[in-house]
Amino acid sequence: MQAIILAGGLGTRLRPLTLKRPKVLLPICNKPLLQRQIGYLAGLADEVILAAGWMHDQIAAWVSKFHLPMEATVVKEAKPLGTGGALTNLRDRVSDDLLVMNGDILTDAALSDLYRTHRKSGGLATVATVKVPDAGRFGTVSVRDGRIVRFLEKTGGRREGIVNAGLYVLDSKALELLPPGKSSLERDLFPQLAESSQLFNFNIDCYWTDVGTFISYLLANLRYAEIEPRGRLGQGSVIKGEVDRLSCIGARCRIAEGSRAQRSVLLDGARVGRGAVVEDSVIGELSSVPDNERIVSAVLMDGRPNSIHGEN
Ligand code: GTP
Repeated sequence: MQAIILAGGLGTRLRPLTLKRPKVLLPICNKPLLQRQIGYLAGLADEVILAAGWMHDQIAAWVSKFHLPMEATVVKEAKPLGTGGALTNLRDRVSDDLLVMNGDILTDAALSDLYRTHRKSGGLATVATVKVPDAGRFGTVSVRDGRIVRFLEKTGGRREGIVNAGLYVLDSKALELLPPGKSSLERDLFPQLAESSQLFNFNIDCYWTDVGTFISYLLANLRYAEIEPRGRLGQGSVIKGEVDRLSCIGARCRIAEGSRAQRSVLLDGARVGRGAVVEDSVIGELSSVPDNERIVSAVLMDGRPNSIHGEN
């Protein structure tokens, strides 16, 4: 089965981290998100196409360097085509049922169950959905008798609700319903499929997160630090300060005497000065926390800390 990872977004909410790396190549406990996604999809797919745009060259370089569990192709969009246009752009390369995944989610949902639900339904698309406490920042859905009967793109607000998890099985015939050029699955395809009773639901009731914001990115790292304690420390790092068991430290980091890092992520080459404290924060690649500085609930890159509270 073919899988497609939508990896062409600009990742604006994770700037400045995504100014140097595409979101799919940000590490989650020292493994690129893309590596985790490809490993996950390999449970069902035997080929993956990466629909890329922003920094596609970094993605292509990574794909060519790693021994991946399946055939992988990077297809570049000269300019962003949206989540729908990214798929119509691949029309000539795909057939039958497609497994489609946003390039910024992580989940333990059983792909074989998702696929079985799709085949049993006979519909054109099956969307994985999940209940979250802050539904407004995602597309929300209404479900009745296994069908998605209403599909609304991001509505804002902080209510609990069932949302689009960014993981789908699509019959490739569904792509014919999208307009040519730039389009959105969430606005141009799913609402019309919902209206014609062709959109089915697969409920995720296990781990799922998107890593599109600093808080969700940080929390995903903490989760994998807990389940993969050996992966927490990257190669060549020198740690003289205190690091708790939830923090993820990239390669070639320096953590000086008398400093402390808690519930934080340090990307490759980051430095924490003497007596400095880093809590609930992300320190960008090659960025330095000066001696005795406190970085709390912030992202620091190129010398400027930004609070991670109040993000959407
Ligand atoms: P923000 O700018 O922070 O909202 O992030 P984003 O650009 O990743 O957008 P969003 O989170 O809405 O995108 C969801 C998924 O679709 C991500 O994995 C994106 O990489 C992907 N995506 C969004 N737009 C495009 C596009 O134009 N082309 C492709 N190929 N993928 C896209």
